Amino acid sequence: MIIFVFLSLFAVTVNCIFYDSYTGNVISKDEVKQHDKANNTFWCVGEFEPCDPNEGRRVDGSCNNLQHPTRGASHTPFVRVLPAVYDKDFEPKTTKSGNAMPTPRYLRTSLWSVGKVSSQLFTQLAIHDFVFMSADVVSLHDTVKYILWKPYCCTAKGKTDRDCVQNKIPDDDPVHRFSDIRCLNMTRPESFQSTGCVKNGTVPERIVSSTPLIDLSMIYGSVLKSLLANGRLFKGGLLKYENSNGRIWPPSTKSQANLCFLNDKPRETRCHATPDIGSNTLASVNLMSIWFWRHHNFIAEQLAKINPCWDDNTLFNTARDINIAVALQIYLYELLPLFLGRDNLVRDGVLSPSFGYRDAYNPEILPQVSLEYPFVLRWLHSVQEGTLKMYDTKGYYLKQYPIVNLTLRTGFFDVDNNIDYITQGAFRQGSANIDHTADPDIVDIGLGPHQRASDLMTNDISKNRYFGFQPYVKYHEFCFGKTIKKWGDLEGVIDPERIEILKDLYEDVEDMDLLAGIWVERRIKGGFVPPTFYCLVVEQLVRNIVSDRHWYESSKRPNAFSLQQLFEIRKASIARILCDVGDKVTEIQPQAFLRPHSRNRISRCENIPGIDFTAWKDFKCNEQYTWQLVNE
Ligand SMILES: *[C@@H]1O[C@H](CO)[C@@H](O)[C@H](O)[C@H]1NC(C)=O
Ligand SMILES: *[C@@H]1O[C@H](CO)[C@@H](O)[C@H](O)[C@H]1NC(C)=O
Ligand SMILES: *[C@@H]1O[C@H](CO)[C@@H](O)[C@H](O)[C@H]1NC(C)=O
Ligand SMILES: *[C@@H]1O[C@H](CO)[C@@H](O)[C@H](O)[C@H]1NC(C)=O
Repeated sequence: MIIFVFLSLFAVTVNCIFYDSYTGNVISKDEVKQHDKANNTFWCVGEFEPCDPNEGRRVDGSCNNLQHPTRGASHTPFVRVLPAVYDKDFEPKTTKSGNAMPTPRYLRTSLWSVGKVSSQLFTQLAIHDFVFMSADVVSLHDTVKYILWKPYCCTAKGKTDRDCVQNKIPDDDPVHRFSDIRCLNMTRPESFQSTGCVKNGTVPERIVSSTPLIDLSMIYGSVLKSLLANGRLFKGGLLKYENSNGRIWPPSTKSQANLCFLNDKPRETRCHATPDIGSNTLASVNLMSIWFWRHHNFIAEQLAKINPCWDDNTLFNTARDINIAVALQIYLYELLPLFLGRDNLVRDGVLSPSFGYRDAYNPEILPQVSLEYPFVLRWLHSVQEGTLKMYDTKGYYLKQYPIVNLTLRTGFFDVDNNIDYITQGAFRQGSANIDHTADPDIVDIGLGPHQRASDLMTNDISKNRYFGFQPYVKYHEFCFGKTIKKWGDLEGVIDPERIEILKDLYEDVEDMDLLAGIWVERRIKGGFVPPTFYCLVVEQLVRNIVSDRHWYESSKRPNAFSLQQLFEIRKASIARILCDVGDKVTEIQPQAFLRPHSRNRISRCENIPGIDFTAWKDFKCNEQYTWQLVNE
């Protein structure tokens, strides 16, 4: 046993090459030892096997770009669309005139009304998918840090800890004038500098804690070892699963059960936190992860039926490849067009105008994610509905639960048939409307019982500043080529009554925070989102398409889909996924990101088209099978 462990360790280390996570350069064993001594190897060093150009997408994201093997892997730097701006010592910048910027909480309460207005168009499911797809590239790391690891940021000790950020609440705050709370906890973003990988005194560069490309990190993790140890069943290409109360679940962690901090024990015991911890974060992510976890096994089972000669590895790798392609197909072609506008996205190269292959790979563009992309997705906090409504299979309303109380709590889904009712609610309940109203839970108790008070959107503005984003007007200029020098230049971009509020908040139009501008912009033509949000999301998605050597629409990637297979991937829809793996879903509307209406009627699952897996039929299996029969 000991010999076996020794040999396998040896086998792993002998092949591996060490890289500096920040620069991507190869480093020596001695340099690794120095990091071991400083206890920052985890963040600063990447260890990868040599690249094989014919290998498929690696779980850890390495070797996506053969010239720059670490780019695409976790713990690598973000790119910035525009260079950072900071005050001295990399503190958030002041106003042009050198005064303090308006406090984040005051900005939030001035720019947003609080209340509940439901969208008549979009469903909760649409927001679940947005949140799920952002969780693919970012993690809750920075939030867990101030909840658990530095739980003193609002105390006197917090003043002396550089990691801490105290978000002040003004005395005349509309909510907290009635409470004694004057500070909201936050920590600075973890960076290559704060972890000691790069010297202090340089622009703080945030670390991508997951893999930067969209590859279902929530399901497969970002570390091969974890997937092998905690994810794979090594039978039939399946992921490990458990059966409980007649339902199939991702495995529940045994060793780290306390990661589900809000599980209401002893009733709620399930804790889905494998292979990494990506499937145990926000309720939307946790829910979607259950479905995509099951969906992997659903695909593997279909493939195994069609190709009885395939071994576990072939089934697993093909199922994973299809699962990732389906997630991307649904995000790009089903979800985004509804919000960003199909014509806009075709014009700007996010959507392929044809059903066939798209070969856009350009090895000069590195597989990275911009710091702006996951940041601007935070605008969606304003479209988050705080109440999860639950329905029976016939659409009768049963009960509701605050979504903020379900963070780091997967046990809730497995009691009282909750997952059945939440699934029904996901495609029946509206999201919050896209307007100037934010949900009270999101802005007052955004982290539920994890904090006394928490305003996710106040934190968003604060993070905007700690990330060192240039002012809104600079991004506006980058996106639309128009220079804004005075408030009047915003005419047509922002409604006059909003400009009036902004003028009270900011000394100068050039002081306006990026996110504040996005919050108040008029929506884009042909879509429902703010134009600068659109621009920065599209900027990244195009980078994904051209920089990902394993992009699913490509004909040249290793193990590329055949054209027939790609046509089948194009049929994927979120409605079909819920029919295939959702709990007790027998009927649903075909466009499940949109609320049911006369042209999107709830109908039986048999009528919802899906992938025909016979496109993956391997005729070698037939030969072998016939050969076996003949020889028996
Ligand atoms: C090294 O860092 C880990 C967390 O990254 C911490 O748990 C551990 O205590 C540290 N060890 C030393 C010797 O500082
Ligand atoms: C400098 O870097 C160390 C990590 O090596 C960090 O702990 C410390 O807080 C940093 N100091 C400043 C002023 O940034
Ligand atoms: C949700 O959490 C809050 C604390 O943030 C608590 O007061 C409330 O009772 C919880 N709601 C439910 C339904 O458990
Ligand atoms: C800040 O964090 C501490 C420790 O978790 C907590 O006691 C305090 O209530 C938090 N502040 C707010 C406003 O939630």
